[in-house]
Amino acid sequence: MRPTSAPPPSATHPPSPSQRRWSRRARAAGSSAIRDLLAVVADRDVLSLAGGLPATGTLPTDDVVDAVTRVVTRGAGALQYGPTEGEPALRRWIAQHELDGAEPHDVIVTHGSQQALRLLVDALVDPGDTVVVERTSYVGMLQVLTPSGAQLVDVGSDEHGMVTDELELLLASGLRPTLVYLAPTFQNPTGTVLSGERRRHLGRLAAQHGFVVVDDDPYRSLGFEEPPERLRDHVPADLAVTVGSFSKSIAPGLRVGWVHAPEWLTPALVRLKQSVDLHTGSLSQRLVLDLVERPGWCAARAARQRELHSARAAALGASLGRHLGDTARFYEPRGGMFTWVRLDLAGGDTDELLPLAIEHGVAVVPGSAFDPAGRASPDARVCFATLDEADLDEAVVRLSRAVAQLRARRGG
Ligand SMILES: Cc1ncc(COP(=O)(O)O)c(C=O)c1O
Repeated sequence: MRPTSAPPPSATHPPSPSQRRWSRRARAAGSSAIRDLLAVVADRDVLSLAGGLPATGTLPTDDVVDAVTRVVTRGAGALQYGPTEGEPALRRWIAQHELDGAEPHDVIVTHGSQQALRLLVDALVDPGDTVVVERTSYVGMLQVLTPSGAQLVDVGSDEHGMVTDELELLLASGLRPTLVYLAPTFQNPTGTVLSGERRRHLGRLAAQHGFVVVDDDPYRSLGFEEPPERLRDHVPADLAVTVGSFSKSIAPGLRVGWVHAPEWLTPALVRLKQSVDLHTGSLSQRLVLDLVERPGWCAARAARQRELHSARAAALGASLGRHLGDTARFYEPRGGMFTWVRLDLAGGDTDELLPLAIEHGVAVVPGSAFDPAGRASPDARVCFATLDEADLDEAVVRLSRAVAQLRARRGG
């Protein structure tokens, strides 16, 4: 068992004079390594494989322009306050199309799925509660959990996702988590998919031990093949939470996500959301609804994204093989936006690699950003969605130079 209460950033960096006036929670919030990094690379001639950004050229700009006119002229609703739970018609659409006919009442529209994660932690987790995460987890959820005072316990994962046998052993030895959080479908950062067998196993464990399972699922529409069965189909209904987003399927700037939760939990989420932002922007919600309701629009967009992303993922894999050979190992992604690469750095790690990589004009995200306790590793998250094939190849050439430099420094 590895209880790894993530060290608050204040433990490693003493607070600056202004931070001393901040609340403990604000100090513990830290800052995302990805955002710090993007801020650096944005001003320089760096090919970034770091962000999780859709390629700008693929955003549905013309369709959004059309939709704005339609939505705004249809009535005042798009520019008015709306219900905290979200626009009723959008909740119905999500329940029907994203959740195979779930009850629309149990769907809340959120300001991106990131807000749903925050609301869930605020609604369910008290300081000292145990939360299980994957040993390699979405950094945005770690940012939510760290200041919550939760005790994080990480469970290993492999190419089939979270190792549920390891979770079973922890439960048998007395672990009592409030919730288990995972992104089982084209995970960020590893790109892996939780196998059907493990989905069923996790569901049985939840039923036996009564913990809530949060399935964070923003990449479902970005599969190169049919998406897997939903985790919620295997988890008792009163313990199953699903979080989704239109950020990847339409555009992240609209900031429209959603959460589907059991009936006992939704009132808490609504109260908390009300205190944060009253409701998600009416204009954004109506834009999303206008787009997704156009006959064939979602399917056509998903097909275009699938074609583009699978070609880029394959190109990245080929470049890694060509320029890094055995120095790089990775799982072939089956969807999503990321390839998780383990580099042979002669004993070094990707925290050490990053400054060299930036010097050579390329950025990746070091594995430590996704580790609940910030442990350095020879892994890196590489985004294949943003750059075209030629830039991906050039980025890998640059990365290989940085890897060679670090290996030489380490005597490898
Ligand atoms: C696994 C996962 N969950 C949630 C989010 C948040 O997405 P958004 O708030 O844009 O819906 C992301 C964003 O990259 C993600 O990768």
